[in-house]
Amino acid sequence: MSGKIPQDFIDELLTRVDIVEVIDRRVPLKKAGRDFTARCPFHDERTPSFTVSPTKQFYHCFGCGANGSAISFLMNFAHLEFRDAVEELAMSVGLDVPTGEHPSPRNQDAPRLLQLVADANRWFKEQLRQHADAAEAIAYLKNRGITGEIAARFELGFAPDGWENLTATAAGQPERLALLVKAGLVANRDKGGHYDRFRSRIIFPIHDGRGRVIGFGGRILGDGEPKYLNSPETPVFHKGAELYNLHRARAAIAKESFSFVVEGYTDVLSLTQHGIDNAVATLGTATTTIHLQRLFRLAPSVVFCFDGDRAGRDAAWKALETALPEMEGGCQASFLFLPDGEDPDSLVQKHGADALRERAKEATPLPDFLFDTLLKQTDLERMDGRARLAELARPLLGSMPDGPLRELMQARLVELSGVRRHAAYPATPRAGKKADQRLSPLATAVSLLVQHPQLAKEAALPEHLAFGDETADTGRRLLSEVHAIASEHPDISSAALVERFRDQDNFRTLEKLAARNHLLEAADVTSFYRETIDTIEQQTVSSAITELLRRSSKSGLDQASKAELATLYSRREILRAGRESA
Ligand code: UTP
Ligand code: MN
Repeated sequence: MSGKIPQDFIDELLTRVDIVEVIDRRVPLKKAGRDFTARCPFHDERTPSFTVSPTKQFYHCFGCGANGSAISFLMNFAHLEFRDAVEELAMSVGLDVPTGEHPSPRNQDAPRLLQLVADANRWFKEQLRQHADAAEAIAYLKNRGITGEIAARFELGFAPDGWENLTATAAGQPERLALLVKAGLVANRDKGGHYDRFRSRIIFPIHDGRGRVIGFGGRILGDGEPKYLNSPETPVFHKGAELYNLHRARAAIAKESFSFVVEGYTDVLSLTQHGIDNAVATLGTATTTIHLQRLFRLAPSVVFCFDGDRAGRDAAWKALETALPEMEGGCQASFLFLPDGEDPDSLVQKHGADALRERAKEATPLPDFLFDTLLKQTDLERMDGRARLAELARPLLGSMPDGPLRELMQARLVELSGVRRHAAYPATPRAGKKADQRLSPLATAVSLLVQHPQLAKEAALPEHLAFGDETADTGRRLLSEVHAIASEHPDISSAALVERFRDQDNFRTLEKLAARNHLLEAADVTSFYRETIDTIEQQTVSSAITELLRRSSKSGLDQASKAELATLYSRREILRAGRESA
């Protein structure tokens, strides 16, 4: 919602914060030599393999491989998103998170809008308590079985009938009125003047992941159209990213290891009232990738609840298509179809929470929903029917990340259609994972630099190799980027250095390299780093020579290439001599 956090701030934050303190407050640490240890909070273990390094400002678990900075720790341990983890750390050391170097006018309004929306929330709640017409609203809630306790917990409010109730609260305050319009609470009249967007409705405040009110849903009292009205998109309210009740459900989702995704606000209220705390609802829109990512970050399993009717089936299929690309790392999704005419609210009211829990256990797993649906559209008795099945499945399986689930689903497709796998879906080469991989010299150099940024001063990168070039491969570019940061900030901590790559593809790789144990004595680090850089240069020079010779034998070399070849030869001589004398 606000701009990107400037890198300088992250650097500053990570120098002020001590990861040992941050973790010790949540997982008590014991000193062990220069480091600190504990039983790992990220997997079950009897003996501590979780280590925190005060010098690197990094944690690492030898058991499960979890590692990262203080920011990563908070994200993983407290299930916070990046920005929230940064804000929490900043608060603990008395820093204010800046909102980006050039906040757009959109974002400049965010703090004032949030304040205004919070005020409006209070106003709606007040109307439910004391407006002359509140009795009707209260009777409606009672009639639906919503208790006073739940109404209070969900901060329900009331928008009275009439066109200018909320508008009138901004009388004589043009700035406030403009903000009310921006927040979507008040609309402009065609002929000038303003009117309330929410009238004669029960108000459901919608919070962001941190529990700040960012928008509202309003249900009409009794019959009427539209049944639900939501705040429009505003600078602080994004339906495609937010989930109703996420801030309250967070802990329960992590504890239960799954989330319920339902369609209505009242479903969430009902479920909560019946002791099911891990439910969230979309905000009148389809499930998005962002929704799924937020949920999968909390727990590896999502159970979607849909109506059993056609519309429910269609919505479920859309959710499946959105979920497929996110199905990795052991994530699961299931689809619970309720009997026609029921929703989670009516189901728990009639049959209780356990009835829903039982149904959730039997919900259709995503792979079954996918194949069942496709099989309904194909006739396996026919050869062209089996071909159609393969064709229909191809784009769906193709949108999945490489991994065991896709593998299994491909095997199932082969079983059903008889179409061999490479014909059914062109297999992509899988990244071979060798146990206990030896690092390449490039990876070793990056790893050493991240762990000891002051090494950048000890050995320059061979400039003639232009590691930072567009044409250089990713490994070389990474080394050059890490080297540039380390040269400019020799005192940067490993954690702060790695944090600079959070948005890049190689972030996880860097985290792992930062935690790698090279089994070196402190006194040997510098010479080992120099040797590694030499090796990289030798390898690079040799392959450049080979490439030039290949070109030469094919089509001859121009003047510049000949000169380059000569330089490379002499460089190789120098490197060899250096190695022999060393
Ligand atoms: P439902 O009509 O299934 O909601 O719409 P519900 O909670 O079961 O409604 P009642 O109060 O029990 O009758 C599900 C969701 O779809 C969005 C709302 O977010 C609602 O919670 N919706 C529905 C709208 O945005 N507008 C509408 O007119 C209807
Ligand atoms: Mn309902």
